[in-house]
Amino acid sequence: MAEQFVFGNPEVIQEEVDILIIGGGMAACGAGFEIMRWAEGTGLKIKLVDKAAMDRSGAVAQGLSAINTYMGENDPADYVRYARNDLMGITREDLIYDVGRHVDDSVHQFEEWGLPIWKQPGDEDKKLAEGGKPVRSGRWQIMINGESYKWIVAEGAKKSLGMENIQERVFIVRLVTDKNDPGRVAGAAGFSVRDHKLYIYKFKCCLLAAGGAVNVFRPRSVGEGTGRAWYPVWNAGSTYAMAAECGAVMTMMENRFVPARFKDGYGPVGAWFLLFKAQVMNGRGEDFGKLHGDEIKDAKRFGKYGQGVPGTCLRNHLMIQEMKEGRGPILMDTPGAMAKLAEKMTPKEVKHLEAEAWEDFLDMTISQCGVWAGENIEPDKEPSEVIPSEPYLLGSHAGCAGIWVSGPTDIPGTPKEWSWGYNRMTTVKGLFTAGDGVGASGHKFSSGSFTEGRIAAKGLVKFALDNKNWKPELARSAEDLVEEIYRPVKTFLQHKDYTTAIDINPHYISPKMLQFRLQKIMDEYCAGLATWYQTNAKMLEICERKLEMIKEDSLKMRAKDLHELLRAWENYHRIIAAECHMKHIQFREETRYPGYYYRTDFNYIDDEKWKCFTNSLYDRETRKWKLYKEPYVQLIKD
Ligand code: FAD
Ligand code: ADX
Repeated sequence: MAEQFVFGNPEVIQEEVDILIIGGGMAACGAGFEIMRWAEGTGLKIKLVDKAAMDRSGAVAQGLSAINTYMGENDPADYVRYARNDLMGITREDLIYDVGRHVDDSVHQFEEWGLPIWKQPGDEDKKLAEGGKPVRSGRWQIMINGESYKWIVAEGAKKSLGMENIQERVFIVRLVTDKNDPGRVAGAAGFSVRDHKLYIYKFKCCLLAAGGAVNVFRPRSVGEGTGRAWYPVWNAGSTYAMAAECGAVMTMMENRFVPARFKDGYGPVGAWFLLFKAQVMNGRGEDFGKLHGDEIKDAKRFGKYGQGVPGTCLRNHLMIQEMKEGRGPILMDTPGAMAKLAEKMTPKEVKHLEAEAWEDFLDMTISQCGVWAGENIEPDKEPSEVIPSEPYLLGSHAGCAGIWVSGPTDIPGTPKEWSWGYNRMTTVKGLFTAGDGVGASGHKFSSGSFTEGRIAAKGLVKFALDNKNWKPELARSAEDLVEEIYRPVKTFLQHKDYTTAIDINPHYISPKMLQFRLQKIMDEYCAGLATWYQTNAKMLEICERKLEMIKEDSLKMRAKDLHELLRAWENYHRIIAAECHMKHIQFREETRYPGYYYRTDFNYIDDEKWKCFTNSLYDRETRKWKLYKEPYVQLIKD
């Protein structure tokens, strides 16, 4: 593949559309589906670009076994209460409520398109929209046969947009502001990961929905397991990095998600806890929740948050304590759960239950089946290890890192500063986001992210129509963008003959090596696995310095082929996302999320000083961050 770069610059293709959708995941598919309802007959030109193939791109690539956000008989206000509690009190309740009140319609669409949703006995032939009762694993979650979930959802978006308006395998590297207005986005640039082509799009507005960030921290899977992660490898922090560099205000970027997962395969635990009612125990076979669970009731350290139903991070905390104090490993009692369920079952029903236990993994995390099969683990006979994984940055699962956006205008009590015209528009004019991109509003999951994409789509069309006569002009020239994006290629071609070993060269660093370096920095100084998720001001100071250097050195990354060019830019996005994360942790002098990370110098929740949003702004000229507090306002009563 290296030969293709000998011919120099890529072919440059420039295109003008009205609306660009960046990403092909749940949020982008929601937008792609919904947008035509509002754009039909307006003459607006709309395009969607995904770095991968939509049928299997993003977090839902392998399929899922549950839809984690479905209201049904529940009140969206309770959904806000649940998300607020799980995210330790600080959420944008206007945004969460907005998702809650619309999400069921999206789930009904999925079923209409052919997604099999489990039903209660007797309701098998009744659709949800007709009153069919789903099998709930928890209050908010419903079970599905979801191996083909993403195919089904992508088809909905493709049919609506038309394949001629979709471009797959184009990785967007940069957003470009308007020549006459630095606070407004006017274009985006990226490259094909298959052909020697660079794309520059101009538009009136765009949806940036490229997911969260994986592989920022050193993962547990190293050596032969390298590459296996919980979160989808496509999502490299592009949403956060591109938005921040374009001048968007970020919010709650100190937050992260540390998923407790079946060890090594990253198999999901939700269905086991909620549906199969399995218990976890420590290495001594003790119910550590019962033995040590009261620790989180200490109000001095955990505020009021350990008093009620513990949120995801607090559940992690108990597990982490157990392991740190030498009582690991943590084991999920799968045989106990299955035996209990089997008590009232016929042998046929028991067989079915076993199949479901396997299917929970086969539907969304096949590698966990590989671990079970490879290690001769029979779940009805032997427990499986559960472990807190490396941290991920995301805004749609049990986490809330992301971008500060404008919300709906009709929810009573919402501060007027929270809505500036177009729902889900960031502080950059014309730049919208959804799903993992929207900060301070987690627990959307697949259905909520799709729904948020739909909400954003309506805003995008309105924005494009309100600005019908506006012509985008890019602040940067095509030559300048080619120069920057192809720099890793040039670096390689210029220096490759300096040494005889292609990977060893004083003039460049391979993307793979740079990624190892980033992961080591984050792991050791920014509350990764190496320190049991702990950090402090001094460690962060070192982290900051090292990140500044890696940012500088990232300009020396080489790309010997298109694959490495992709890896180089993914790493660049990761670095910016990592820096933002680190800056926020440094700024928030408390431990808001024990079990996700600990500031050992402020190892307590401090509602008095820190019950607020932490927002940041990146200055692309000076490459420095400015952080500030934004008041939290509770909209839904306790
Ligand atoms: P994604 O769906 O991840 O989409 C991101 C898109 O951006 C992808 O198409 C990607 O290719 C594209 N992209 C990335 N970078 C670029 C770039 N630079 N240029 C162009 N395109 C780019 N939810 C549930 O409801 N139930 C579950 O059981 C469940 N299980 C989950 C299990 C796992 C392992 C994970 C990771 C998530 C799970 N979720 C579940 C959550 C759900 O999948 C996410 O909330 C949802 O997919 C987020 O939507 P999104 O559009 O923001 O991101
Ligand atoms: S998944 O997205 O990979 O399926 P996971 O298995 O953690 O995630 O969780 C699925 C759903 O169950 C989420 O809504 C999560 O918050 C919830 N969940 C997981 N474990 C528990 C638990 N022990 N108690 C309550 N809710 C849980």
